[in-house]
Amino acid sequence: MSVSYMTHPLIRHKITLLRKEDTSTNEFRKLVEEIAMLMGYEALSDLETQDITVKTPIEESVQPVISGKKLAVVPILRAGLGMVNGILALVPSARVGHIGLYRDPKTHEPHEYYCKLPDPIDQRQIVVVDPMLATGGSAIAAVDFIKKHGGQKIKFMSIIAAPEGVDALMKAHPDIQLYVGCLDRELNENAYICPGLGDAGDRIFGTK
Ligand code: PRP
Ligand code: URA
Repeated sequence: MSVSYMTHPLIRHKITLLRKEDTSTNEFRKLVEEIAMLMGYEALSDLETQDITVKTPIEESVQPVISGKKLAVVPILRAGLGMVNGILALVPSARVGHIGLYRDPKTHEPHEYYCKLPDPIDQRQIVVVDPMLATGGSAIAAVDFIKKHGGQKIKFMSIIAAPEGVDALMKAHPDIQLYVGCLDRELNENAYICPGLGDAGDRIFGTK
């Protein structure tokens, strides 16, 4: 597995704004979408293209376009939903799957409650999105599920990650490509990322 950490100042700037306690729900949602788009731009730099013939005002020419239908974005519910439109802004024809997982507040173990993927999925480039990679339990369960359904080419994008989550995901799925907006210090006793941004799902949807 390869891990890429984002260094672009625009991504780092927007993640800083995201962390602030007084960032409103509206602003938070907008920032998550923008960061997903900027990270997606980097993560999709090896996207497959196909040649088509176009007629310019001067002549006919063979030029590349991306094979958008081959991409599947898969948010981990709920918080991952906030990143989907950022990726769709880049590749509007991508398919969207959903994986519903929540962490048990006591054990921090992920529990599955809804899953629907584009079928077939084996030939698609899959981009799993979730703003937070904490213990890595949800990410590992999501990738397990995708692989069980035939997914092979998997990228995982998280805005903030803890070292514990990166290590766990790398160990469980050494074949995937991981893109991290910012690597934070550690997890606290409640398995929240420090300094982090709190509960991403609650902040995106304005719930508590
Ligand atoms: C959050 C987050 C990840 C998960 C990360 O979701 O969006 O899915 O926790 O933690 P982990 O790496 O320890 O598994 P949560 O379970 O709070 O659900 P929500 O998105 O519905 O709020
Ligand atoms: N999930 C979140 O939303 N935030 C964390 O810090 C850890 C898990």
